[in-house]
Amino acid sequence: MNEDTREPVRLIDTCRVCDGNDWQEVVSFGPLPLANSFLEPADSYDDEPAYPLGVVSCRSCRLMSLTHVVDPEVLYRRYFYVTSDSRTMAEHMRHVAALCRDRFALPAGSFVVEMGSNTGQQLSAFQDIGMRTLGVDPARDLAAAAGERGVETLPDFFSGPTARRVLKEYGPARLILGRHVFAHIDNIAEIAVGVRELLEPAGVFAVEVPYALDMLEHNEFDTIYHEHLSYFAVDTLATLFGRHGLRVVDVERLAVHGGSILVFVGRDDGPWEPRPVVDRMREQERDFGLFEDATYAEFAGRVAGIGEKLPALVRSLVADGKRVAGYGAPAKGNTLLGVCGLGTDELEFSIDTTVLKHGRVLPGSHIPVRTPEYGKENPPDYYLLLAWNYAEEIIGKEREFLENGGRFIVPIPEPTIVSADDL
Ligand code: TMP
Ligand code: ZN
Repeated sequence: MNEDTREPVRLIDTCRVCDGNDWQEVVSFGPLPLANSFLEPADSYDDEPAYPLGVVSCRSCRLMSLTHVVDPEVLYRRYFYVTSDSRTMAEHMRHVAALCRDRFALPAGSFVVEMGSNTGQQLSAFQDIGMRTLGVDPARDLAAAAGERGVETLPDFFSGPTARRVLKEYGPARLILGRHVFAHIDNIAEIAVGVRELLEPAGVFAVEVPYALDMLEHNEFDTIYHEHLSYFAVDTLATLFGRHGLRVVDVERLAVHGGSILVFVGRDDGPWEPRPVVDRMREQERDFGLFEDATYAEFAGRVAGIGEKLPALVRSLVADGKRVAGYGAPAKGNTLLGVCGLGTDELEFSIDTTVLKHGRVLPGSHIPVRTPEYGKENPPDYYLLLAWNYAEEIIGKEREFLENGGRFIVPIPEPTIVSADDL
């Protein structure tokens, strides 16, 4: 289909995991712009596109899904998200590489394929431990950047046909990796089939996704944006893979992005037996209330509470003459600001380390993105910590700001003020 004539949004119908269609409504945030569509400053933003953003939960497999799916060609061909060059992430990627090698006895020289490989940083960590790598990423500029750092990258979406092409041209993979990409893909059944074909018999598919239970428990509603089509529990992933000749064999909980799971999946005819942690986590999920409507209704209630409390707090500070700015310009911040109705009346600017974002404005709120140096020269009284998932790293390196009387507003799981007294 021609890129210009296809519908930019698809309303979901059946569940992409189990084909069910009994959906519980969870939250609905109305139309919001795409969270990574940072804009050039302009006199008017009247023509900024916005798309409905809402989440429903499948009463059969408890996949949480967006109600509206934006065409990936619109989302990813010109994509702004680059893996942040934070210390936390660099350490995490080395950890993931070592974990995969040690748990699944990857011999040196094993072939590792990563979908959504972005600028190649994760695969570079696999090269460092002696693996052969291939990236697949549709964002053409990012794929080129990865090539420059020595990570060969196919500039394409990972799909069934891509998997078969890789198999034919490069041979089977010992490890297929999908970090924070699986939740972005609509047709995950096709991906599961492609993965099954590309894996060698002892191969492993390692999928890292934000953990739905962390989102529900810690009110992380800002994880919801148009790129994140799915919010997964282990049980839901087990249902999915079980339908496609695969099985979940191990799970590791991780702190990144507000709480994530790294789920290891093997072929159902492969040598990897499920470890006890898999059933244990599925039981814990049931005990938590994964299958009960009330769990989702209560989450929605707490989100609505933050949606009132946070803007009231920020507005009262501004009314008292305090200067407030954002810290970080992550995609999730745009959901947070959009849901809370916060914009340039409240936040003067937001600082971010990502060079690509400098000089642009945030989608929706149009708050200007400035450099960290600008923040040092014009320190506000309060930073709203939009990148709250790096709270430890950021608060650690901003001691001076705090010691000079500055404060952070940490929005999630509950709006909280952090001052030098809390160090
Ligand atoms: P992420 O959660 O998707 O990795 O995005 C984090 C954003 O926060 C990214 O745009 C970089 C920014 N950031 C800073 O500006 N300063 C920091 O110290 C850290 C850790 C992140
Ligand atoms: Zn389902």
